[in-house]
Amino acid sequence: MTQEDYLERVTQYIKDSEDELAQFKAITSYHSGQYDDDASWKSLNQYVTENEDKRGCAPGQRNRVYYMALPPSVFVPVSKGVKKNVYVQDGVNRLIVEKPFGMDTASSNELGKELGALFTENEIYRIDHYLGKEMVKNVMTMRFSNIFFSQIWDRKYIDNVQITFKETIGTEGRGGYFDDFGILRDVMQNHLLQVLSLIAMERPISTESEAIRDEKVKVLKCIPPISPDDALLGQYVAANGKPGYLDDDTLKNKKSRTPTYAALTLWIQNERWEGVPFIMKAGKALDTAKVEIRIQFRNVAGSLYKGAPRNELVMRVQPREAVYIKFNNKQPGLSYGTIQSDLDLSYHDRFTDMKIPDAYESLILDVLRNDHSNFVRDDELETAWSIFTPLLHQIDQRTDLPLHTYPYGSRGPAELDAFVRKYGYDRSNANYSWPVQSVSHANSSNKL
Ligand code: BG6
Repeated sequence: MTQEDYLERVTQYIKDSEDELAQFKAITSYHSGQYDDDASWKSLNQYVTENEDKRGCAPGQRNRVYYMALPPSVFVPVSKGVKKNVYVQDGVNRLIVEKPFGMDTASSNELGKELGALFTENEIYRIDHYLGKEMVKNVMTMRFSNIFFSQIWDRKYIDNVQITFKETIGTEGRGGYFDDFGILRDVMQNHLLQVLSLIAMERPISTESEAIRDEKVKVLKCIPPISPDDALLGQYVAANGKPGYLDDDTLKNKKSRTPTYAALTLWIQNERWEGVPFIMKAGKALDTAKVEIRIQFRNVAGSLYKGAPRNELVMRVQPREAVYIKFNNKQPGLSYGTIQSDLDLSYHDRFTDMKIPDAYESLILDVLRNDHSNFVRDDELETAWSIFTPLLHQIDQRTDLPLHTYPYGSRGPAELDAFVRKYGYDRSNANYSWPVQSVSHANSSNKL
């Protein structure tokens, strides 16, 4: 590419003003080379050094961030090239690594060993962009700055937790990559497990990154490997004029059994969570696109209002960030029945002058600030793999594990409702609708 082609390519989706774009372009440059060729790296080093000289960087101010958004097969040769030829001795070096960090425990440990021989843990930032999402960053604030949450955040009050990831697009054009990974490696072992650990961890001793990451590792260590009995796997088939997973031209194995949908139940064996199912659901080619955390509380013991549904706390990660609590209220008017309603904090209605940065914007800024809180530590990664690896190996090796089909654009496999019911999820609020609802159509109970 020429410098112009490159600038065009990297700025084509940026919506900022012409002025801001021009400023950005002026500080962005392109230099091409081969991943495994020392001469290319030396030339990159010279190029960067000249740029730094032009900007008047004194020795000690040559701070460099390297971002590897690359096929995993070249992570190691690229890190070697960087370390040998571009790494600065008299400045700060930081290396950002995109997923996938391996395919299972063994391959991830191997990659970790090779990177660890080149960069210190403090220099490595394993990026999981879900940790940069506004609502995911809000989990700690919500949990630990509200007294009513801190008191009810355990097995005594919480019946089940669901973390849901739904996308309307399939894997079209990405089948080559996806088929090696499947939905479990693509979004569950990383993005959704990170969300789970923030929901379930104990309160860190401070907001320092190591304090937070210590607690995340601790809670992950209480989770045994996921049993195949706690897994519902699916793959989408053609429907509504859309192709099935196996119809994708980029897919090499036309008989692939790679799941594009999974519901998995994880158990946390500690005093706080024993017996509370954490259900993760993720799928491609579904009816709607959303990511949310749903915490369903227990029934009110000895309730005066029979049939009043359970409370739920919902954190909507995307689209349109919101936190709302489903709660029971007297039905407005002459009735003494109860009506399920909500306490609703929809960000776009509540906050003015709000600009929520893209997850990557916020995470790259964290790297510049040397804040590791929202990045994955080596022991955290290893523990995350230990929860998923046995199940992943069974999925890869066994042909007798059921793989349910579901039509493109549907809610997922038909077996899903029975699966979540098995773990106690109560859907007795079918007439409730968010964000607005009518009183007369509401499901009111206990009419006097
Ligand atoms: C990526 C996965 O890590 O996350 C994709 O590889 C997935 O398959 C994406 O679509 C989802 O990210 P977001 O930010 O669009 O929810």
